[in-house]
Amino acid sequence: MTCSILILNGPNLNLLGTRQPEVYGATTLADIESLCQAKADALGIKIIFAQSNHEGELVDLLHAARGVHDGVILNAGAYTHTSVALMDAISSIMLPVVELHLSNIHAREVFRQKSYVAPVAVGQICGFGAAGYPLALDAIVSYIGEKK
Ligand code: DQA
Repeated sequence: MTCSILILNGPNLNLLGTRQPEVYGATTLADIESLCQAKADALGIKIIFAQSNHEGELVDLLHAARGVHDGVILNAGAYTHTSVALMDAISSIMLPVVELHLSNIHAREVFRQKSYVAPVAVGQICGFGAAGYPLALDAIVSYIGEKK
């Protein structure tokens, strides 16, 4: 069966390209989706790409991933630093989750250095801008492959 990965993006990431380009770069979310699709084609896997500005909708999308996808790449945006609900959802779905950030959250404000996703993720990729997304696909596919 083809491996299927959900790539889930949180609040304000729909504005990539125009949102603080000095921090997040000039690449749009649509460009990132194309990058991910090219990487998925090269890896021979399926991806679903989604974005929501709403915490509860992100929780719903994580729940819906169970039994449908083999893993999740999650850029939870600012909810990374606040959301026990997202942490609990990740703990509940029994799927590997790779935490992703465009910026290096550890080199930014102190409040961004706390992640509620990190303790329940299999790993974290941050600081590589849009290039982090295909890196995260490589990482999760290799993680899933080793578990099989
Ligand atoms: C982000 C980092 C978060 O701190 C911030 O709130 C975002 C984007 C990133 O991709 O670098 O919205 O997740």
